[in-house]
Amino acid sequence: MADPTSSRKLEHINISLNKDVQFKATNQFENVLLFPKKSKRTAQPEADISTLFLGKKTGAPIFISAMTGGHEKTFQINKNLAEAADEFNIPMGLGSQRAMIEHSNLAYTYDVKKYYDIILLGNIGIAQLANYRPSQIERMLDDVRADALCVHTNPAQEIAQPEGNLGFKNAFANLKSLAEVIDYKVIVKEVGNGISKEVAEKIGRTKVYGIDTGGAGGTNWIAIELFRNSSHDMDFIKEWGIPTAQSLIEIKSVFKRFVTATGGIRTGSDVVKAIALGADSCGIAMPMLKANKNGSKGIKQHLAKLIEEIKYEMALLNCASIDDLKSLKFAINDPLSNILKQRNINMHYSR
Ligand SMILES: Cc1cc2nc3c(=O)[nH]c(=O)nc-3n(C[C@H](O)[C@H](O)[C@H](O)COP(=O)(O)O)c2cc1C
Repeated sequence: MADPTSSRKLEHINISLNKDVQFKATNQFENVLLFPKKSKRTAQPEADISTLFLGKKTGAPIFISAMTGGHEKTFQINKNLAEAADEFNIPMGLGSQRAMIEHSNLAYTYDVKKYYDIILLGNIGIAQLANYRPSQIERMLDDVRADALCVHTNPAQEIAQPEGNLGFKNAFANLKSLAEVIDYKVIVKEVGNGISKEVAEKIGRTKVYGIDTGGAGGTNWIAIELFRNSSHDMDFIKEWGIPTAQSLIEIKSVFKRFVTATGGIRTGSDVVKAIALGADSCGIAMPMLKANKNGSKGIKQHLAKLIEEIKYEMALLNCASIDDLKSLKFAINDPLSNILKQRNINMHYSR
């Protein structure tokens, strides 16, 4: 019989490719307004968009967010994603590596560094930390030569999943002690329901290196799980979550380390706004999977277009570099502004 972790990954991919599983609500970046720099730097899309990620220079302020591995059919997807990441010198995330801890013969489905020298992010679920020793997790990262570990937290998805793991009781303590002992940088990420200021503050008291918003407004995991089992009546939480722009501002207001924005990042405008608000980079998941219908060529075309959009946006904003973007004045429209005020979020944080 097929391993449940491994076949679940395949089901997720098939649903993602064939059903409408995007949030109806937006990521709220439409309520972020940027004002061009005064001095005219350029009208050409020629900005230098290179930036640092985990202290290493990358070609653009974007990365391919965690998706897959763990089933033989996912190997080629990961390899295509890695080929495109290599071409543009951007980082790439692996999907949960739980399957390779449980079945070492599946490790090859994640082992893209065998072919491409890219910045690679390992991945495991926070609820899984109770089941594995730090040495097992380190070994899992060593085996794929990862550059950091992403720990995903996904309580809403687990609730919507009929076989979901609701054992989050010691999850935070497990995360805290893992970050203390492991020889890898740890990044905490959501999968599409966002991270709040309160959670970011708590993470700030640990040795965790960075946070990814994984905010609402893009791929909706509750919708994906409901397609897997429509008899599981969970429609009431379908639109639950903190929109990516709000989550980014909440995190940045209290957490002074590495922050990335993921969740419905679809256009150059989304990227430019997130970077201007202080994100170090932006993650993109679902559009990469869809672009893979045309293989690595499709992914490269998608990335090339996104990078071109980023450069045109920057030309309009008179920005020649990522530092220029981070110095832009911005305004926040309602309803986002109203929510941030009611939540007492400081919008004047250092970027
Ligand atoms: C098919 C698919 C599989 C995913 N698997 C994982 C995973 O294993 N681990 C994880 O941390 N996030 C996973 N994600 C979540 C993404 O990394 C990302 O946070 C989320 O999809 C929001 O980004 P998007 O709106 O650009 O898709 C997955 C996303 C997709 C579309």
